[in-house]
Amino acid sequence: MSKLPKEPPAGEITPPALYLRRRELLKSAALFAGTASAIGGGLVWLTGGAARPSAAGAPGGEATPLGAGAPPGPPAAGASSSGTRSRDPFVTDEARTSYEDIVSYNNFYELGLSKSEPARNAGRLRLRPWAIACEGEVKKPEVVDLDTLLRWFPLEERVYRMRCVEAWSMVIPWLGFPLGALLRRLEPTSRARYVQFTTLLDREQLPGQRSDVLEWPYVEGLRIDEAMHPLTMLAVGLYGKTLLGQNGAPIRLVVPWKYGFKGCKSIVSIKLTERQPATSWSRAAPDEYGFYANVNPAVDHPRWSQATERRIGELRRRPTLPFNGYAEEVAGLYSGMDLRESF
Ligand code: MTE
Repeated sequence: MSKLPKEPPAGEITPPALYLRRRELLKSAALFAGTASAIGGGLVWLTGGAARPSAAGAPGGEATPLGAGAPPGPPAAGASSSGTRSRDPFVTDEARTSYEDIVSYNNFYELGLSKSEPARNAGRLRLRPWAIACEGEVKKPEVVDLDTLLRWFPLEERVYRMRCVEAWSMVIPWLGFPLGALLRRLEPTSRARYVQFTTLLDREQLPGQRSDVLEWPYVEGLRIDEAMHPLTMLAVGLYGKTLLGQNGAPIRLVVPWKYGFKGCKSIVSIKLTERQPATSWSRAAPDEYGFYANVNPAVDHPRWSQATERRIGELRRRPTLPFNGYAEEVAGLYSGMDLRESF
C-alpha cells in the first residue's frame, strides 16, 4: 500500500453504529433463518455429500454456490420492511457493493500489485485440500482440514462495511462464522493474549511472493478480546457463493471496525500467542500502519487524510466513522488507551 492513491473528501452520512444486544442478535438470526437453511443446503457439499463439486482441486478463479445467500447484484439501499433503517450491526442495510466490484477491485499483493491483477491470477490457487494449523497457546491444537472446520460451525451471512486504509470502502455480504467459536473450541491457555493469522506461502500459487514488496508470508494479528468479539469472523463466501481467490479463498479474516489490511487472506495458520505478533504492514512501514489499525477519521495516514472515504460504485465521498461505524460495539475494547499512540 506504499503505492497508494490520494483520495479527496466529500460528504454523505452513513447510519450510526448500533447496539449489540442479545435480543437483536436473536432477531437477526430469525431474519436470516431463510438464508441459513439455504446455506444448510450448500453445506451438503461442504460436508462432503454427494453434490460436492470438484472438492479435490476447486480453483481460486471459480465461485461455487454456497447455498442460496443473496444473488449477485446489489439490493436497494436501506431496504427494510418497516421502512426504518436496520439497527443490526451484523447486517447493515446500506447498499451492497456489486458482486462485480467486490471480485474485480482487490488488494492481494501475492496475486499482483494492481487492483485488477489478483482476479486475473486467482485461478492459480488450489483450494482443496486446504488445512489450517490451529496452534500455539491452546489446550487442543489441531491441524484442521477446511471441510472439517466447516462441519463444526453453521454459516451466517453478515453484511459489513469494509474500509480500506487507502480511503475507499465497500459493503460486503460475507458468509462465514465467528472466529470466537473456533477459538473457544481450541481452548486458549491462560497465557493466550493475541492471535496471529498467516497466509499460505507458495510461490507457484501466489507468484507475488517472488517479489520483495513485503516479507512473506503475509501475517496479521489481533488481541484476543478483539478476536473473540462477536463481530469478528472467518469468511468462506460472499454473495451466497464460495470466495474467489482474489478475495482470500478459501478462508479469510474479516474485522469490520479495522482497516481492511487486517483481513488476512487464504489463511493456513491461526496461532495464539503470549506476545503481540508481527504484522506485515506494520513491519514494512511502522510509522504508517499500526498493529491496531482501528478505523479512525481523526488520525490521518502520514500521506493522506482518513476523514472521508469513497464507497466503490459511488461518486461522492462520505465521512469516515470512528471504528467504521461499529463504535457502540467495540469502543469499550480500547477504554483507557490512547488511540493516536496505539494506531
Ligand atoms: N491478505 C493478504 N494475504 N495479502 C494482501 O495483500 N491485502 C489486505 C487484505 N488482506 C492483503 C490481505 C488489504 S490492504 C485489504 S484492503 C483487503 O485484504 C482487501 O480485501 P478484498 O480484496 O477482498 O476487498
